[in-house]
Amino acid sequence: MQNYPVHFISTPDEQVNVLQITDLHLSEPIHDKTQPCCHDRFAAVLAQALAEPVRCDLILVTGDLVSKVKTHLYDHVFDVLSATGIPFACIAGNHDVTEEKDATVPFHARELLAKEADERLLSRHVIHSEYWQILLMDSSVPGEIFGALSTMDVDWLDAQLQTCQKPTLIALHHHVIAMQSAWIDVHIARNTDYFWQKMRKHTHLQAIISGHTHQEKVYTRDGVQVYSTPSTCYQFKPLVDDFAYDEDARPGYRWLQLANNGQVASWVKRLDT
Ligand SMILES: [Fe+2]
Ligand SMILES: [Fe+2]
Repeated sequence: MQNYPVHFISTPDEQVNVLQITDLHLSEPIHDKTQPCCHDRFAAVLAQALAEPVRCDLILVTGDLVSKVKTHLYDHVFDVLSATGIPFACIAGNHDVTEEKDATVPFHARELLAKEADERLLSRHVIHSEYWQILLMDSSVPGEIFGALSTMDVDWLDAQLQTCQKPTLIALHHHVIAMQSAWIDVHIARNTDYFWQKMRKHTHLQAIISGHTHQEKVYTRDGVQVYSTPSTCYQFKPLVDDFAYDEDARPGYRWLQLANNGQVASWVKRLDT
């Protein structure tokens, strides 16, 4: 794959345009008509985003690529993204390293099995442009739904930010700010106190993007814009304490325009049909 993994991107103008897609949740059978087909929705999201009058310089896929850890599902994602010719990068989510053994029993009663992450998924990966650095962090924990940023992970981020003073975007799967939704906040990234303690001093850290919550949200903390992004497939209801799907929310994706002067503009688009 010529466009994977990407280490450097250059653009001809004042910005880098990043497309974030997340929580694809591909599974088998591919065309099970009894439930929304995440394959179809992934294809539709990508087609709609790339048909927009926005030049796409980089695609970031922030985890939960699959719901069943099968190599051929990853092959499919990488084939589709590779065919775009656009540089891209993928990191793991909980579903890429954890399998729920029996989906027919209640969620809390399911046995969680640790799985080995597909070797194409990146961890502690750095992408530079002339004006920006993008840090990709694997927050997944095999056998668990919650995420974690180990002390070594945070220290790595801290070291990258100390070494490079360019405006910086961090991408990871799990959320690092509570979503005011009790059930999903059980599954937040752990060790966020240490994370924020270390990040607070880096005034050039501009933005953080994550998936996992299957909903749109924007927070500001310590001067950092923190963006949560809808799934390309199904959505969770925001601001509720018990699990619920958001049946009215359409599949979505996020654009980030990283301007050469360090400013960030970002917005979510939803699938038209
Ligand atoms: Fe997910
Ligand atoms: Fe997740």
